[in-house]
Amino acid sequence: MAFISSGYNPEKPMENRITDIGPQHFTEFLQPVIKKNFGKWLYHEIIEPGVLLHVAESGDEVYTVRAGTARLMSVTMIREICDVADKFCDGYLRFTTRNNVEFMVETKEEALNLKKYLNEQKFEQGSYKLPVGGTGAGVSNIVHTQGWVHCHTPATDASGTVKATMDAVFDHFTDMKLPAPVRIAMACCLNMCGAVHCSDIAILGVHRKPPMIDHQYLDNLCEIPLAVASCPTGAIRPSKVEIEGTQYKTVAIKEERCMFCGNCYTMCPSLPLSDSQGDGVAIMVGGKISNRITKPAFSKVVVPFLPNNTPRWPEMTEVIEKILTAYSEGANKYERLGDWANRIGWERFFEVCDLEFSEHLIDDFRDPAYYTWRQTTQFKW
Ligand code: HEM
Ligand code: HEM
Ligand code: SF4
Ligand code: SF4
Repeated sequence: MAFISSGYNPEKPMENRITDIGPQHFTEFLQPVIKKNFGKWLYHEIIEPGVLLHVAESGDEVYTVRAGTARLMSVTMIREICDVADKFCDGYLRFTTRNNVEFMVETKEEALNLKKYLNEQKFEQGSYKLPVGGTGAGVSNIVHTQGWVHCHTPATDASGTVKATMDAVFDHFTDMKLPAPVRIAMACCLNMCGAVHCSDIAILGVHRKPPMIDHQYLDNLCEIPLAVASCPTGAIRPSKVEIEGTQYKTVAIKEERCMFCGNCYTMCPSLPLSDSQGDGVAIMVGGKISNRITKPAFSKVVVPFLPNNTPRWPEMTEVIEKILTAYSEGANKYERLGDWANRIGWERFFEVCDLEFSEHLIDDFRDPAYYTWRQTTQFKW
């Protein structure tokens, strides 16, 4: 395609430059009932899965219909979402913190019509375009990352693992039959962009091999002390190697100290470590961020490794379904997954979820590891 200028002049890059204007103010986009009753809401109800009602002091009502999205979407899809908003909601819509989309209407009848309409929209291959759900004690959207679509440090894919998982747990998206909400999150490396460290169930991409070292280019591409300082276990030291008579400044990695975090690669392009057989996913559970009843908690590793069996990750979805089933059968009302595991004891958690316990799960990172061991005789056989 021929080049089309936007008016930007590369000869004078700073001329007519607009900067530091920030985002547009959210009040420009408020649906009228919301604008009118802002800060004056009395109570809300979940009418049925995916449909919320908020009632204001004025007596005004607003119904919200929540639908799942894939997060990664084309402009065509966004235009279709705008068409829905134009047709049913005077052009207003919003996205949630879990990347669901919400449409607001003023009567229950309109809301139920809209729900029906959204559930009828399908892609050619049969998947729902905008399945309604994601409210109450169910499984809402999976907060996730870039994966092989865009990032250079992933150990697994984000969009693929998420689609496979949502297909496996889809009934929990459109229903509210769990003891409490179950938040599933995914991150494709342990930078953990997103919420895997604080979710009920988390999928995390992990490596199992130390980095390769591109000695010939390392000093040209990397700030060596930065690579050394990036290692949480002190496995990296500066070193020199000789290749074909030339001496290169580089690094050496003590393989038995490396736990494959990939942090040195983030700092230094000459230390790549992704590997099709070595890489896969770990499963973590029991995190939460709300303060309801119990304090917020980190998620814990319960499955150290499952293979990247593309495109559907069957081993991974099987484990997630097992954990969800055991939780929904065992937990009390309002009990989050971590609250349940803490109550029954983690030894019982592994038993009821039919998960193997291995040495990988025992914390061995510095002094704090000690506090994760059992300093009591209280346990169940
Ligand atoms: C140089 C570093 C980074 C670059 C170039 C970068 C770039 C991007 C890009 C292009 C996306 C959009 C991806 C997509 O839609 O496919 C994205 C999304 C995201 N990034 Fe980064 N990122 C960087 C670092 C980080 C870090 C360090 C974090 C977290 C600690 C992070 C968290 C996220 C999250 C949570 C999203 C998803 C947002 C959403 O749900 O829409 N990023 N990033
Ligand atoms: C102790 C530390 C942290 C606390 C207490 C915390 C707390 C929270 C809370 C309250 C939410 C809102 C969840 C919701 O609306 O459902 C949240 C979401 C999120 N947090 Fe954190 N956070 C912590 C650390 C981090 C870090 C270190 C990162 C990134 C590196 C991060 C990234 C995110 C992201 C991307 C979300 C959005 C997830 C979603 O929409 O559900 N958080 N966090
Ligand atoms: S979690 Fe890691 S691999 Fe995934 S987008 Fe973030 S930095 Fe990239
Ligand atoms: S992958 Fe992590 S543990 Fe291994 S050498 Fe690099 S920074 Fe250290």
